[in-house]
Parts: sequence; structure tokens; C-alpha cells
Amino acid sequence: MIFGERVVKTPIRWGMVGGGYGAQIGYIHRSAALRDFAFTLVAGAFDIDFERGKAFGKELHVDSDRCYPDYKTMFAEEAIRPDGIQAVTVATPNFTHYEITKAALNAGLHVVCEKPLCFTVEEAKELEELAKEKNRVVGVTYGYSGHQLIEEARQLIAAGELGEIRIVNMCFSHGFHATAVEQNTPSTKWRVNPKFAGPSYVLGDLATHTLYLCEVMAPTLKIKKLMCTRQSFIKSRAPLEDNATVLMEYDNGAVGSLWTCAVNVGSVHGQKIRIIGEKASLEWWDERPNQLSLETNEGGVRILERGMGALSEAARIEDRIGCGHPEGLFEAWSNLYRRFALAMAASDEGKSVDFWYPDIHAGLEGVRWVENCVKSADSGGVWVDYE
Ligand SMILES: NC(=O)c1ccc[n+]([C@@H]2O[C@H](COP(=O)([O-])OP(=O)(O)OC[C@H]3O[C@@H](n4cnc5c(N)ncnc54)[C@H](O)[C@@H]3O)[C@@H](O)[C@H]2O)c1
Repeated sequence: MIFGERVVKTPIRWGMVGGGYGAQIGYIHRSAALRDFAFTLVAGAFDIDFERGKAFGKELHVDSDRCYPDYKTMFAEEAIRPDGIQAVTVATPNFTHYEITKAALNAGLHVVCEKPLCFTVEEAKELEELAKEKNRVVGVTYGYSGHQLIEEARQLIAAGELGEIRIVNMCFSHGFHATAVEQNTPSTKWRVNPKFAGPSYVLGDLATHTLYLCEVMAPTLKIKKLMCTRQSFIKSRAPLEDNATVLMEYDNGAVGSLWTCAVNVGSVHGQKIRIIGEKASLEWWDERPNQLSLETNEGGVRILERGMGALSEAARIEDRIGCGHPEGLFEAWSNLYRRFALAMAASDEGKSVDFWYPDIHAGLEGVRWVENCVKSADSGGVWVDYE
């Protein structure tokens, strides 16, 4: 259980690129990073508009001389300060992730990067190599994986409760973009333009989250081949999709499917994962993140509640409040940022850590999956060997 005790000896001096006023995802990054005093926010290039970013920096109690017009200036100026930043979060639109993460690693910084890490497997491998060479940690914010019941699912599967896995059924399908909302919403506009979003919309923006949940819950499953079809129901979004269906075959003979969609009218969020084994099934839904359903033919449905003593120690270690009180996405992100901080501190001391977190390899795997999906879809929805 976490009582707010110190995570690292001294809070990690931290900066942000992006996440400015009005940005969708900036606040939860700050809330998560600052919660356990793991990080302290001392610098930022928060906004593409310098004056707006500087004004917002003031609201965040960042000294105005440490609010920068762009990331290059921030990395250069901070590098010559004795109290310069040690880590940076990249929370900008997709097309900037590769260049900013690369520059941050070259500046000797630990990085937390938004997904997708970059656009191509080639770029992702380059970043992975660079992080290794510089001995820096790169965390990728697959935020839902920080929910405690994801860990419980992992423990149950590792303990053989499900038996051999046969089927994985996933979806992340919301309905908020059922009309061309991008015409009036800047943060959706770049998402449906390949120049800024990359080779996909919902496959990269939504589905990689659920894919990573599966990687955490069932790490031994390895995709052997997949088939994908994608559609742009709002025609102006083509070639990027607002709906896609992916079928997968795994090495062990299991099969999987992932439906991802932004035009699923009426659906609030719609991220679910159901893993079916020969003995039992489990299901987790991100709109009810404090419950995990464990189902058998003999025992029916058993709902496992977050924080209950019956859960594994590994799943309870990050409880912030007792069972019965709901925890949510902000706690899940805090759990990840806590692990990022611990991994960064360990790496500074030349040590490794014995827990998982969404690292640069997870980022690479997300990019690889999207690349394979797009290859299949754009070849007419054919099966492709997973590369
Ligand atoms: N992990 C998640 O659950 C999650 C959720 C939403 C978004 N995201 C990701 O976060 C990233 C940002 O998405 P968003 O929805 O917050 O976007 P947004 O458009 O709402 O905000 C982007 C922010 O970045 C700033 N910015 C843009 N270019 C910049 C630059 N070169 N330098 C400095 N600041 C710059 C903008 O001014 C703005 O403040 C995307 O990669 C997106 O995929 C992840």
C-alpha cells in the first residue's frame, strides 16, 4: 500500500514538452508525476505558441526563465544549469515524438513519451538502441496498464488459473468522432491527418492501449500472423481509419481479435479485454476499472474487487486507499509514473529493476503492430506474417 512515502531520494527535476493549456493529456501527466513527489516540474516548452506556454508555465509555478519557446532551446539551456532537468515528458502531437525523444536522449535525459512512440519500426529501433547506449529510461504512457487489476490478471494467468489461453477478444471503440468533429476540434484535427498522426488513426491512437494490456496480462502470447481491415466512415479522414478490425493468430495456436472504432455511436469509451482459457475466462472493462471478472463453467461469474485481501500481493502493492473506494485513471497513471521514477533512479545508480512498466520496447511493439495492421489492410485485408 502506498501512504505517500518518498519514492526517490530527491524528486527528479522534470520538464514537459507540450501539455499546454487546453491540451487533452497534459494535466494527467502532471498530476501523475507530481503526486508522490517523484518528480518536480521545473521547466517546460508547454505550447507551440510560446507566449501562451509561458503564461501557462506561470500558472504551474514554473519560473518564467525556464519556460522555453521550443524543446531545442530547453534542452540546451537546461544542460548548462547545475540544477537542469533530468527527465522530460513528450506530450505533443504524434509527428514530433521521434525527433523530440531522440534529442532528449542525446541530451542525456530520461524520457516519458506519449504513444505512439514514433511512426516506423525503423525509428523505434533506433530510439531503443539510443536509449540503451545512453543508459536512459524511456517510459511510454499506456496509462490503463497502471490499473491494479491488470496486474491481478497477469498474476492469475501466470498461476495457470485460466489454463492454456485459447482466445483473446479486445475492443477499444468509442463514439465521440461519429461526425466530423475535427472541423471544430484542433486536438482531433491532427489525429486524422497522416502528416501529423502517422500511418493510422484509431489503430495507433486507441487499439495499441488494449494491445499492451494483453501484453501485460499474457506476456507469453506472441503474434504469428494478423489480418486487418480498416474503414473511414467519415470520408474526409481517408486514408486514415475511424474503424478497424484485426484478427490475430498466436504462436501457441490461440486466436485474437481487436475491434477499434471512433464512430461507435453511444459508446463512452468501450475498452474491454476478455481472455479465454481452457479452464476459465477473465474480463476487464476500463469503465469499471475496479472490477475484474473471473468466470468458470462450474462457479459462474466471480467479481474480484480492487484492494481486496484475496488479491495477489503484486496487485495490492499500489493501493492508495482501501477496498471499496474507487480508484481510477489518475491513480493508474500515478502508478506508472512512480515506476518510471524508480526505474530512472535505479538506472542512474547503474541498477536494473525487477518490475515491469511500459518501456521503450513496449513503445516499439505498438509501432510494429500498427505497421503490420496497415500493411495488411492496405493490401486488401490479407493475412500477413507478423514482422
Ligand atoms: N496515453 C493516453 O491515454 C493518451 C490520451 C490522449 C492523448 N495521448 C497522446 O498525447 C499526445 C498529445 O495529445 P493531446 O490530445 O494532448 O493533443 P492536443 O492537441 O490536445 O495538445 C497538444 C499540446 O502540445 C503542444 N505542442 C504541439 N506541438 C508542440 C511543440 N513542437 N512543442 C511544444 N508544444 C507543442 C500544443 O500547443 C498543445 O498544448 C498525442 O501523441 C496523443 O496520441 C495519449
